[in-house]
Amino acid sequence: MTQFEDKVKELTAHTFGTWNRQNAWSNPMVITDAEGIYFYNDKGKRYIDFSSQLICSNLGHKNPAIIEAIKKQAEKLCYVAPAFATEAAMEAVDALNSILPKGLGKQFFSTSGTEANEAAIKLVRQSKAPAYKIFSRYHSYHGATPSSAACTGDPRRWYSERARCTIDGVRFAPDNYCYRCPFSMTYPDCNIQCARYLDYMIKEEGNVAAIIVEPVVGTNGRIVPPPEYFPLVRKICDENDVLLIADEVMSGWYRTGTPFAMENWDVLPDIMTTAKGASGAYTPFALTAVSDKVADFFDDHLFCHGHTYAYHALAASAVPAAISEYKKLFDSGLPQKVSAYLEDKLVALGEKHNCVGDVRGIGHFWAFEIVKDRKTRQPFNVKADKLAGKPLMTAKIAGKAMENGLFMFAWYDTLVLTPPLIITEAQVDEALDILDKALEIGDQEAVETNTPVSRSCHYR
Ligand SMILES: Cc1ncc(COP(=O)(O)O)c(C=O)c1O
Repeated sequence: MTQFEDKVKELTAHTFGTWNRQNAWSNPMVITDAEGIYFYNDKGKRYIDFSSQLICSNLGHKNPAIIEAIKKQAEKLCYVAPAFATEAAMEAVDALNSILPKGLGKQFFSTSGTEANEAAIKLVRQSKAPAYKIFSRYHSYHGATPSSAACTGDPRRWYSERARCTIDGVRFAPDNYCYRCPFSMTYPDCNIQCARYLDYMIKEEGNVAAIIVEPVVGTNGRIVPPPEYFPLVRKICDENDVLLIADEVMSGWYRTGTPFAMENWDVLPDIMTTAKGASGAYTPFALTAVSDKVADFFDDHLFCHGHTYAYHALAASAVPAAISEYKKLFDSGLPQKVSAYLEDKLVALGEKHNCVGDVRGIGHFWAFEIVKDRKTRQPFNVKADKLAGKPLMTAKIAGKAMENGLFMFAWYDTLVLTPPLIITEAQVDEALDILDKALEIGDQEAVETNTPVSRSCHYR
């Protein structure tokens, strides 16, 4: 019995475990320390953090510069009401303006990606009234509250809908999911039909105010669009007077190699939301950044929105330090070198294992799509299995890796291969050795094949 056993029981008895059946929230691992790309449990066992926790600990754990900035702010001023100005908020604005895409000059600070998207939806619906409809895509996650859950394509929306905890007026557009393209039967030569269909949808629906997209889809598959996709979406939005919201909560903060993922295609959204990596996950900080076109409406209209912890000084204090650390890291050239290495290694590893159907991603943002049959692309599990709480092959593989000291999240069909941006080539090797062995579990139930692994990603 460890010193924490009784306390963990008390913790789980008195708190809700997130996204879990509560009888499964009984014995979470106790984490007592973390440094760099590693974290440690109460028994001293070390784990490689190969998902950057929830794809947010981009700068690794225990970054001294960020910790120092938070300490200084904590000693000075932790909190005042958002109606006051603080040095922390002013410094965060300065730092943000040095890195945000030019043209998104007006911002709202909150504390989670969900809140950032809620604010975006309110800004859209207030400023575009009477248009109110929002398009999203099936492979997406935008947050846990009724508006953001309504815009979510993954099975978490199904739960929210059953509980009547979603808003109306959201429609789902086709995904740019090339591995399982919904248009491949009708348009075998890709004509970016997934983007073109938006124009048809907008005209048929009427009252469309905005489309919300993850520039590179995060939780739901690390899906990188064809290079023509976002320039075409931008054009369709402009022609139809529809706002484009880029949810960069997960894809932002250099995860894809550029500060924000939309920059890979030189596309400027009207609204950008972000959180997670903004503070390197050292404080809860989120941001909704908008163009003048959206901001100007509120000059003489009420911005009917706010939170007690909006512009929280302690939360904001981590942001300038994190931005400075990102810039230093990318000036060193390490992440650029390692991301190319990571890609080559992942492709080779995927090729070796029959249970890997597709290897896709960009930067430090990768997925293995796990399949039963690489030739037919038959999956082991589908969305409904997640909803039903069925055992998942991806979870079996991730469980085996965890036993051997490699932590990675698993979605119903993919493994989340998204290490901190500070990872070295030697550490990639260490992680992939463990993953190599764990994938044998999938291979045992997968069909043996000569079909090469798919690369549905459009880079390199
Ligand atoms: C793309 C995207 N949007 C929004 C959210 C919600 O952010 P949060 O969990 O901070 O509320 C997430 C969380 O994973 C996300 O990946």
